[in-house]
Amino acid sequence: MDRPLQKTLEQLIDVRTNRRDAVKGILAAGGAMSAIWCLPGVAVRGSDSSPTGEAVSELNGFEELPHVKESEETAEVKTIGVAKGYNTQVLIRWGDPVVAGASPMDLLNPKAVGQETQFGYNNDFIAYLPIRRGGDDSQHGILCVNNEFTNPELMFPGITYEDKLETRSDEQIRVEAAAHGHSIVEIRQDANQNWHVVKNSPFNRRFSLNTEFEISGPAAGDTRMQTVEDPSGKKVFGTMSNCSGGVTPWGTVLSGEENIQYYFRGELGLSEEAENHARMGIDGTGDYSFSKLDKRFDLSSTPNEPNRFGWVVEIDPYDPKRPPVKRTALGRFRHEGAATAVNHDGRVVVYSGDDERFEYLYKFVSAKKYDSENIENNRDLLDEGVLYVAKFDEDGVVTWLPLVYGMGPLTWKNGFNSQADVLIDTRKAADFMGATPMDRPEDVEEHPLTHNVFVVLTNNDERTDEQLDASNPRAENHHGHIIELEIPHKVGKPDHAATQHGWSMFMKAGHLEDHGGWYQGQKPSTWLSCPDNITFDKEGRLWIATDGFQKSSGVLDGIYACEVAGPRRALTKQFFHVPIGAELCGPCFTPDNSTLFVGIQHPGEHSTFDEPSTRWPNAPESDLPPQPSVVAITRTGGGPING
Ligand code: FEO
Ligand code: CA
Ligand code: CA
Ligand code: CA
Repeated sequence: MDRPLQKTLEQLIDVRTNRRDAVKGILAAGGAMSAIWCLPGVAVRGSDSSPTGEAVSELNGFEELPHVKESEETAEVKTIGVAKGYNTQVLIRWGDPVVAGASPMDLLNPKAVGQETQFGYNNDFIAYLPIRRGGDDSQHGILCVNNEFTNPELMFPGITYEDKLETRSDEQIRVEAAAHGHSIVEIRQDANQNWHVVKNSPFNRRFSLNTEFEISGPAAGDTRMQTVEDPSGKKVFGTMSNCSGGVTPWGTVLSGEENIQYYFRGELGLSEEAENHARMGIDGTGDYSFSKLDKRFDLSSTPNEPNRFGWVVEIDPYDPKRPPVKRTALGRFRHEGAATAVNHDGRVVVYSGDDERFEYLYKFVSAKKYDSENIENNRDLLDEGVLYVAKFDEDGVVTWLPLVYGMGPLTWKNGFNSQADVLIDTRKAADFMGATPMDRPEDVEEHPLTHNVFVVLTNNDERTDEQLDASNPRAENHHGHIIELEIPHKVGKPDHAATQHGWSMFMKAGHLEDHGGWYQGQKPSTWLSCPDNITFDKEGRLWIATDGFQKSSGVLDGIYACEVAGPRRALTKQFFHVPIGAELCGPCFTPDNSTLFVGIQHPGEHSTFDEPSTRWPNAPESDLPPQPSVVAITRTGGGPING
């Protein structure tokens, strides 16, 4: 059994050796913060036992999985694996019926009309919402899943990664458009711990590249958001590249539009948007073929269309009639996700990383306060506030720089003529403010007990020795790292709106000897590489999903758990692994932690429909392609995972 332990400030500093230096630095500098900023203010789990022996297995209550190498010619490589004592169930897979009246997909001949009603491809972010808004039901809920992108070479016969631009049929292009976006299903767990999708539920919905979205906030209606099809600049069809996301306290889901650069083709010519699009990596050479069928994706005819993507989308799963909204106040970049935290004064803060090498970490602070009594008062909360970008200093201090039109360099002299310009060109605004270029910011999450914020930097193989800094300390960083933001407290509650506070290194991933991995100076049970999505269980342990372990080290991706305090801080153990070619996405617990949902994205990547490296979740002897799927993990006999 685990025992919660109230740690004193002194004990916390002692177990976080490198944070101690940061604390000293700030206090010595006599900065704006008082010592109270590093007090968690609540009980933190930990252990007063030895870091080895029996106490360890008590703390991390599962037997770790050893790494599985992609080169091993065993059946294990082609399927999923979970720690002993746990069960897995494929809950929903690409092509399964979602909306009322839908039929299952014919996987050997998918059709676009059907795909609009069926579960999308490449499931990334997963949110489980209890069936009643604000409730805690862990056996009956609504599952919201991002469908990030498509792999046509795995979806259809006769296509390779290299020739897909030439070989896709028009119908296959339409299937891909319909397979993007987001899927929502009502789900229920039976007495045998098995989960089921509730067929024909009014909650079940699909969003695709053909769904109408509203655009709100300071950039909505701006001339740069207008197109011939939408002269209002306030409506757009579709969402794309929806990677990770978050859940707001009022029960809506946020979804980050990430790699929008892949979707646009054609010549920009002398368009005024050419420079802006170049900063977003949009150069007209995207590898999707949508421009062939829809001129919205042809830069030569619709140069403003990319400005309508790259936002955070807000969806209300409890209200199927309410349209999804793109919230422009949160900025436009390659949003990995959007993690919401409530500030001590009731304002809402949304953290979001821009996932590209040398891009930035952002946070949005709302102008108005969250109303826990009346959800209607939160409807437009994310439309008004200040967007900040992070500057990490060598002395363990992070400073948040406001991206506000007219302030500092954000004026007409540098091409900004309104707050809409600042938000559409968020990256450019952050460049001018002097933000710290990071090693690909992926997921960001607030710790449920300490309220510190964990920031995942997945890797950056292009950083050179000349580009090192304290927050990105390794050249050719193939393995990534995780930073912990030390959130100050006011009146015992977190001050996420603070414009300056401490940070410390939580983990440098990779093998200890071979890659310079660093796990609080100790040896983890199973080391990891390329952290991406994270979540916390209710006891405050960190669960880390990896994406890229196969590329960096030939090891199948998986999910790893560790403590964030005490002698086993940052010492990871593998709990689950994916099949060859896949990444592990969207880890999400039910409120009671009895189920962990995980996303298996692009199983079989780097192979083809005709010669797949795995057919998971289908039988190896079938003729069916692999299917991205959501898996539910439960403990044999029930009870909380890792409990
Ligand atoms: Fe879609 Fe940043 O991963
Ligand atoms: Ca990701
Ligand atoms: Ca997460
Ligand atoms: Ca990733």
